[in-house]
This record gives sequence, C-alpha cells and structure tokens, in this order.
Amino acid sequence: MIKNKQNIFPISSQYIEKAIKSFEIDLEKISIRELNKLVDEVSKNNKVNFLRFEFGIPGLEPNKLAIKEEIRILKNKPHLIGTYPPFDGIPYLKKETASFVKNFLNINVSPQCCIPTVGAMHGGLICQSLAGRLRQSANTILFLDPGFPVNKLQTKFLGLNHDSIDLYDFRGQKLLDELERKLSNSLIGGVLWSSPNNPSWVCLKEEELEGIGKLLTKYDAIAIEDAAYLGMDFRTDYSVPSQPPYIPTIANYTKNYFIIISSSKIFSYAGQRIAVTIISPDLMEKRFPNLKDFYNTEKVGHAFVHGGIYPTTAGVSQTPQYALAALFEASNKGKFSFFDDVNIYALRANKLKKIFLKYGFQLVYAEDMDEPIGDGFYFTITHPKFDSKKLLFEMLRYGMAGIPLETTGSRKEGVRICVSLISNDDMEDLEVRLKLFKKNISH
Ligand SMILES: Cc1ncc(COP(=O)(O)O)c(C=O)c1O
Repeated sequence: MIKNKQNIFPISSQYIEKAIKSFEIDLEKISIRELNKLVDEVSKNNKVNFLRFEFGIPGLEPNKLAIKEEIRILKNKPHLIGTYPPFDGIPYLKKETASFVKNFLNINVSPQCCIPTVGAMHGGLICQSLAGRLRQSANTILFLDPGFPVNKLQTKFLGLNHDSIDLYDFRGQKLLDELERKLSNSLIGGVLWSSPNNPSWVCLKEEELEGIGKLLTKYDAIAIEDAAYLGMDFRTDYSVPSQPPYIPTIANYTKNYFIIISSSKIFSYAGQRIAVTIISPDLMEKRFPNLKDFYNTEKVGHAFVHGGIYPTTAGVSQTPQYALAALFEASNKGKFSFFDDVNIYALRANKLKKIFLKYGFQLVYAEDMDEPIGDGFYFTITHPKFDSKKLLFEMLRYGMAGIPLETTGSRKEGVRICVSLISNDDMEDLEVRLKLFKKNISH
C-alpha cells in the first residue's frame, strides 16, 4: 500500500527527468493519458500518493435511479439487447430530452430534434463533420479557446482546419469584433465552445451569446455549443425546472445551432458514454448541396442520423439511453436535482484556490469579464517564477499533477487544475506540500 511520506518531497529532479525521458514525453505538450502513465510510475516508485489534478473525470457516484433503470431493462426487456437501437434514439429519451431543454433552457424543440450519441465526443465529431462540410470552402472549425484538446484532435481526424480565438484576450464586444473578422473570410463552417469553459471556467455572458448568434446567422455558420458542464455556473441558481433564470444558450439567438448535452459530468455517468445532441428545428430541415457528397443527402437532420450516426456507431446502446431518460424525467418532475450533487465541485474549487493563492500561485483566467471567475470543475494556475513546463515539472516533484495550458489551445503559461478527485485529506496534503514548495523556491 502506498503511504504518504511528506519528507520525500521534493522528489529529485534527476529522477523525474529520467522518467520523462524514458516515456519520451514533452511536458509542454503532454496528453492526459501520457501524464497518467508518468504519474503512476513516479507514484509507485517513490511510494507516494499524487494529488491527481490532471484527470477531468467525475468524482461522484451516479444516481441509483439510472442504474436501476438499466437493470430493469436488462432483466425485463431482454429482446432489446438482441436488437439494434433506432439510429436516432429511443422515443422515451427523445421525449424527456425535449422536456428537459424546455424546463432548464426554455427552448422549444420536438423530440425528433434530440439525438443520442456515444458521449459528447461522438456528438462533437458528427457536429464538426457537418459544420465543416456545409460549403466546400468553409472547411474550418473555429474554437473559442482554451478548450478540450480532444475536440481539435477530431478536427484533424476529419481532415478539417481549425482556427482559434483565446477568451483571455477577447471578451464582450472585442470577442464579437474578432469573431466577425474571422467569419467574414467565409472559411469558417462552425464555431465550437464550451460554457462553462474547460479549463478556464469562463462563462459566456448573455450579450456575448446574442452577438455570436447574430453573427452566425449573418455568415450562415453553425454554433456547436458543447454543454459538457451544463448549468454548472454556480453563481446563478438554474435548478428549478420551468422557472427563470434559465441556463443561457445560443439557441435563443440563432437558428443555426447544435447543443451537445453530456451525461458525464452533470449526472456523473461518463462510463456509460451517453449524451444527446439537440439540433435546431430549422437546421434539421436546412439543405446544403455540398453535404450530398459526404452523407448521400443535402438535409442536415437526415445527414446527422443516416450519414453521421449510422456509419460511426449505428446508434447508442439502449440501457444507457433508458438511464439518461430516467434522469431527465426525474429532473423534469423536480424529483431530483443534479445541481445539488455537482455543487460540491464549486466548494472544493473555492478551498483549493485559496490554498494555491496563499503559497504564491496566481489564477491565469482570473476574471470573467467584470466579475471574478466562478468556482467549478476546473481552474487555471500559474506561478511568477515558472513557465508551464517548469511549473508542471516542479509540481511533479511535490506529488501533484495537472495539464499544461498549452495543450488546451491557450497561449498563457500555466496548468489546469481539476478538482473532481480531491478529498478533504488531500487538501491537508496540498497545504503541507505547497508550504515546502514555497520555502524551497524562495531560497
Ligand atoms: C468540453 C468537453 N466536451 C466534451 C467532453 C467529453 O464528454 P463525454 O464524456 O460526454 O464524451 C469533455 C470531457 O471532459 C469536455 O470537457
């Protein structure tokens, strides 16, 4: 069993350098999986627990009602296991999704517009593939960065180009001006973002969404709103179904949208790989001649299902669809609030930030326009003495891991901290390690 021995810190630089070399890793561009491997090795060989800030995975138990629903289907409806799922999703999930977005986002879509995918990753892949092929020349996806690195890997995988606007430099009217400058070159088919943002926890303001929506309509480009952290801006209480305030969404400002709602973080259901893409009712019916070469149809909705879902996964396993439908139904009826569960991340972030700041760290994305950044699943740290690579190196010496911001498309120096796996005991460890870190670097 691995024990924490605080006196082992800092681990020798030579040892960490050797481990990095043996894995042939560049710390600045390290992927999460590579970092996991490195940390596992360092942790095992030095017999210390690492504070795992690098994983962006949920740290909570999923609600039992979802698991019960999966078991109910497996037991009582075995014929479903032996048949293929409908490519566009089971009616129960489609119906509950439409009610869910009405209750929490206040948008009106029919069940037909709600299509399950194998996680948000799958939805994002199909959304990008469509947005990047509406017109032959518009084969660029524009990212409002920083962002989830895998989305850009998807852009590459699809043979599309990517462009970026860093939310550190561009907010408010400045963001809209920069977006218009980019859209006006007619090369951009889709604009992808996540709000709250992974990793900065920046949340786009209503006036920004309004401006973005207008521009997307004007230049006929598609919004890909990746709501992986739907409603997790805990500064506002969105938890009461069918009552304002509603979760802000681009759907209020353009008809050109895809919204991707993942079960992974709001319901801690990441392992079952289930999400839903909401396609705007107008976009469902819209035709683009260029799509025909790729999907055998010009119609976006048809292309999504028969040209996107069918050749990739041919649908989504049925029991997770039932589980997500049950979670949406319980949320719609006010029987269960996922906000109450995930709120713990904000409390943790608040405590962790205070500890980091106490020992000389600074927040990179510290402001959210005119307010301090909110507390949530992630935050970003930097240290005046170190660039990203050196900071991560030093953190590893004190038994801490996070991902360098460069991998998220940010141009700023720093490291992403994910709070999801950190316990109260870990916070005590963090304090001890950072105290030592501060003492040693000031010599
Ligand atoms: C912004 C963003 N999008 C998508 C995902 C992946 O979601 P899913 O597990 O539903 O594929 C993540 C996971 O960390 C994320 O941060």
